[in-house]
Amino acid sequence: MNSWMASSVVVVFLVLVSTALFFFTVTRGALILRGLGAGERGASDHVYPIYSDMRLIKMVDFQPIISAILLFQYDRLVSRIVAELQQLDLGGRDVLITSCAFGNVIPRVVGAAVSRQVRRVHLVDLIRNELVHARSKLGDLAGKVDFRQADATAMHQADGSMAANVMFFLLHELPHDLKGEALKEAARSLEPGGKLLLAEFHRPDSWVLRAFSWTYFKVFEPLGLALWDSHDPLRYLQDLGGFSCTRSTYFFGNFQVIVATRQ
Ligand SMILES: C[S@@+](CC[C@H](N)C(=O)[O-])C[C@H]1O[C@@H](n2cnc3c(N)ncnc32)[C@H](O)[C@@H]1O
Repeated sequence: MNSWMASSVVVVFLVLVSTALFFFTVTRGALILRGLGAGERGASDHVYPIYSDMRLIKMVDFQPIISAILLFQYDRLVSRIVAELQQLDLGGRDVLITSCAFGNVIPRVVGAAVSRQVRRVHLVDLIRNELVHARSKLGDLAGKVDFRQADATAMHQADGSMAANVMFFLLHELPHDLKGEALKEAARSLEPGGKLLLAEFHRPDSWVLRAFSWTYFKVFEPLGLALWDSHDPLRYLQDLGGFSCTRSTYFFGNFQVIVATRQ
């Protein structure tokens, strides 16, 4: 190996290590430090600084970065949710989005709902900065959206009042006892025939991807692994009853979209 190649390898290695260190620091690392402090658990203790600090939000929220984090499946997953919304007649009905997310999912979902004559879209997040940031991506569509700071486990929507609820990669970040609570709330606010559209990680089919994914979760997002088995959202919804559910998996089983229709 000549010296040019050797230096390139070193540079690529250093970039990868510093990127991993950066993400660890603004996600799990910060939670570990937070956990060392004394005091009672607060409602937003599980939320990474990357979702609460506006400078970090703006630094990270670029479509190529976000797509890469989801192994370039982001567009497919969002497109599936958008396609489901586009099949609904939303005239005079309301749609809920339970938590903001990076990338273009919020503008695409709101755009799809508006194209189906939605009455209002309700965008709910625990963190105010996330709502401010989401609004900045919506342009004129923001006029159709009610932004509300609230907890996914204790929502303000009336029972049976929503035609659809989009939950995009929220569950894997919630403490285990809150995962079921968030699903219960989603179920409560759906009208009969209403759809919960949920995108999440899933246990990969191939052992290579499973090993890679397991390592990723153990290091960065340990609350996500339970979705593979003990806190499978599909099983939770089936146990809750009153839903007919379908699950589609993507990229060798690494991701899932659940469509749960309230009976
Ligand atoms: C849905 S996840 C998005 C993760 C995903 N990696 C992405 O951006 O594509 C993160 C969002 O969930 C929000 N959040 C976390 N816990 C919440 C809760 N209990 N209720 C409502 N929003 C919550 C965070 O504030 C953040 O905006």
